[in-house]
Amino acid sequence: MSEPTRTPLIAGNWKMNGSLAGSEPLLREIVAGVSELTGVDVLVCPPYVYLQSVASWLGGTAVRLGSQDVSEHAGAGAFTGEIAAAMLKDFGCDYAIVGHSERRALFGDTDERVAAKFLAAQGAGLTPILCVGETLEQREQGQTQAVVASQVQAVLDAAGVAAFANAVIAYEPVWAIGTGRTATPEQAQEVHAEIRAMIAALDATIAAQLTVLYGGSVKGANAAELLAMDDIDGGLIGGASLKADDFLAICRAASR
Ligand code: PGA
Repeated sequence: MSEPTRTPLIAGNWKMNGSLAGSEPLLREIVAGVSELTGVDVLVCPPYVYLQSVASWLGGTAVRLGSQDVSEHAGAGAFTGEIAAAMLKDFGCDYAIVGHSERRALFGDTDERVAAKFLAAQGAGLTPILCVGETLEQREQGQTQAVVASQVQAVLDAAGVAAFANAVIAYEPVWAIGTGRTATPEQAQEVHAEIRAMIAALDATIAAQLTVLYGGSVKGANAAELLAMDDIDGGLIGGASLKADDFLAICRAASR
């Protein structure tokens, strides 16, 4: 199901990396490189504490800003250490990653909490990037489709299909994240098509417009073949988003 109206999106997830001093030159190079490209949307997701500085460096450029997570609690209140979606919006974020596998595996983000974060992000006007993906063990046991479907279903149950008109899904097989082992384009396409079909069963128009990113060891060298697949609409990039040259090579591969 190929839809020319889906503009590719390349999102950099810096994770807990970088420094204030190092972020500015990285951003300047990214902004300069992206300014020469057309037909691709580019987004960076720095650590929370750098959002304000990054927002000021990005001001007026084509590069958008997102957070790596968001509180599931929508309102203000006694939630020590949490950051509300409205605060992220205040600081210039347009997107929020929810349900990254590192949050799920290391910080107790259950399907229910991820769904609450998705809703909190949308409630404040942020576009959630919902991450889903199976572990190696689950893949080897033939559970990939069931795992991914249940992660998507948890958000469908909480938010309804209409919510996916303003959301992004990122398929990130856990075994491919930070390992240098990328899913083959065919492996990724198969899951992307299943995700889109799941949404299409509820609303074909929303499914056709839905941006589905692939994440997991995407690099300049493998980006083009992944992005050539019908249902792969961009990438969520970890390691390769920390070096301007590497990140821009991926953005270039997505550019049309
Ligand atoms: P990676 O990370 O590109 O370093 O594999 C991707 C991600 O975790 O989003």
